[in-house]
Amino acid sequence: MKYNFDQINNRRNTNSLKWDIGEHEFPMWVADMDFQTAPAVTQAIQKRAESGIFGYNIVPDNWYDAITGWWEKRHQTHFQKEWLIFCTGVIPAITTAVQRLTNVGDNVVIQTPVYDIFFHSVENHGRHVLENALHYDEQTHEYSMDFEDLEEKLADPLTTMMILCNPQNPVGKIWTKEELVRIGNLCKKYHVTVVADEIHCDITEPGKSYVPFISVNEECRENCVTCISATKAFNIAGLQSSAVVIPDEMLRQKMERGLNSNEVAEPNCFAIDSVIAAFTQGEEWLEELREYISGNRKLVAEYLEKEIPEISLVKGDCTYLLWIDCSGVTKNADELCQFIRSKTGLYLTAGSQYRGVSKAFIRMNVACPKVQVEHSLGLFKDGIIGFMHQ
Ligand SMILES: Cc1ncc(COP(=O)(O)O)c(C=O)c1O
Repeated sequence: MKYNFDQINNRRNTNSLKWDIGEHEFPMWVADMDFQTAPAVTQAIQKRAESGIFGYNIVPDNWYDAITGWWEKRHQTHFQKEWLIFCTGVIPAITTAVQRLTNVGDNVVIQTPVYDIFFHSVENHGRHVLENALHYDEQTHEYSMDFEDLEEKLADPLTTMMILCNPQNPVGKIWTKEELVRIGNLCKKYHVTVVADEIHCDITEPGKSYVPFISVNEECRENCVTCISATKAFNIAGLQSSAVVIPDEMLRQKMERGLNSNEVAEPNCFAIDSVIAAFTQGEEWLEELREYISGNRKLVAEYLEKEIPEISLVKGDCTYLLWIDCSGVTKNADELCQFIRSKTGLYLTAGSQYRGVSKAFIRMNVACPKVQVEHSLGLFKDGIIGFMHQ
């Protein structure tokens, strides 16, 4: 490997959300990585910092080129430059879509368990979440979509939006083209706009790729707002940027107005250069990162099978977030997580936060050096044994 993902980076006392916790505690929760970003990204930021001038910024042509070039090459998907709008993050874009494309009292369909901030974007603005719970197969440890229930929820006349997480956090599914076609057809039939959050699309298992919702067919393309970003794959979430891709002219005009009114359409000094560097010079780094994360995923799978057989890893092909079925130990993973944190310091996320079929699950972030994963697995085992024998 050319890049050293084994390097330990001390993030304590750096105002890190993930690491600003008790001294004896060990975080495997928030979705950012303990790796340094690609060197090209750091260099771009250093170069910008050296100017010593941090005034207002514009979005230049090469930002559009970097994004369209990456999607063309990596995801075989063509975006026209004018479809793209800069935004300060995926969540500001989703919140704006809810505000601008739905009305107070409307329903927004969300497939659960899912990234919990989706619920805030909807409920904080007086809309209702209609949960289309993913089906969990206890034998295969895999989730799938419940299309019958989905159709029922989309058919409700007050349902005006669906937020799709593609690929899915936390269950780690890459949705197939067939599944996306069915969603596209149903949403078109019931006049429901699709917001596709594709922030996790670049971290997939080596050899596996995702299907952009926008690329599936014309019906999907004309009925969606797609949110993409370099921030997850390149660990630059603190630089706050995303791109909103909207082929349909009318939807785009509405979103453009909304993003500007919410004042989330202007970049900070580092947001542009970091994204350009990532998408034009970061490919080799990303390939190695994916291999490394895949190794961590396998390490956890093997450890659980051998050392804690009561616990099962849900089959996942994307993200660095592992979704772990603890039903062999408890039906209440909130209690389990609390116990593990207080007894061992290991800080995991309890699944109930993501709603749906999740009460007996936990989420573990393995985007960190292998020794940290090994250390956390030891703590996890001690915590589970302590919990079972209390
Ligand atoms: C599915 C999903 N969407 C959005 C975000 C956050 O996006 P942003 O930081 O760009 O608002 C996350 C962060 O974990 C996520 O998992």
